[in-house]
Amino acid sequence: MATKLSVNINKVALIRNSRGSNLPDLRQFAMDCERFGAEGITVHPRPDQRHVRYDDIPILKEVVTTELNIEGYPSETFLEMVLEHQPHQCTLVPDPPGVLTSSEGWDLVKSKDFLSEVVGRLQERSIRVSLFVDPNSDQLSRARDTGTDRVELYTGTYANEYPLDPHKAIQSYTECGRRAAELGLGLNAGHDLNLTNLKYFSEHVEGVLEVSIGHALVTDALYYGIGNVIGMYKALL
Ligand code: PXP
Repeated sequence: MATKLSVNINKVALIRNSRGSNLPDLRQFAMDCERFGAEGITVHPRPDQRHVRYDDIPILKEVVTTELNIEGYPSETFLEMVLEHQPHQCTLVPDPPGVLTSSEGWDLVKSKDFLSEVVGRLQERSIRVSLFVDPNSDQLSRARDTGTDRVELYTGTYANEYPLDPHKAIQSYTECGRRAAELGLGLNAGHDLNLTNLKYFSEHVEGVLEVSIGHALVTDALYYGIGNVIGMYKALL
């Protein structure tokens, strides 16, 4: 089964927010991404609302016809918003407030009980849950014990190491692909994936159901246009 491309539109919201008007129009951008072939839209409303804001969510929920994935730290405020709007998927990340970007997965030894409860609350409302994790087989087993449907492998480490030694960079991810299949866990991946490193990742990690890509894809769109770029990324999957 082909890996789905979910486009993270946070950076589009960032440009809009910098001028206080509705340009670019996030709703239209999400619809256009889908028209150009995106198989999902991802948003990560952060507590400081500098990217996608909480009030964008109902508007996106109304127009997204593929899959809406909402990422975030499961604070009570975040969870209430997610439970109210019921996206297809919620990806839980361990980000402290104010962080520039997500840069590590959950510590599932420390957070297993907390996450098990949150996973259950989301699943009760028929929301698929994914936990952001580092590429470590032990973490995958612990993630499975929370009852989560999927995990999202943090690919920032891969992206950093790829230019130096692709073979070494991919090892732990290949292993996690196998382990996730053994455990019956769905597998997503994301962070710092781009036109240079995506193909190798996709060829060496089995069973990736979805990648969510934002920063590089939106940057590429400045040069090639969003319609072309979505096709370019999909061709690598
Ligand atoms: N996955 C998670 C959990 C993220 O926080 C982000 C960034 O918002 C991404 C994927 C996408 O990363 P990038 O913007 O580097 O493609």
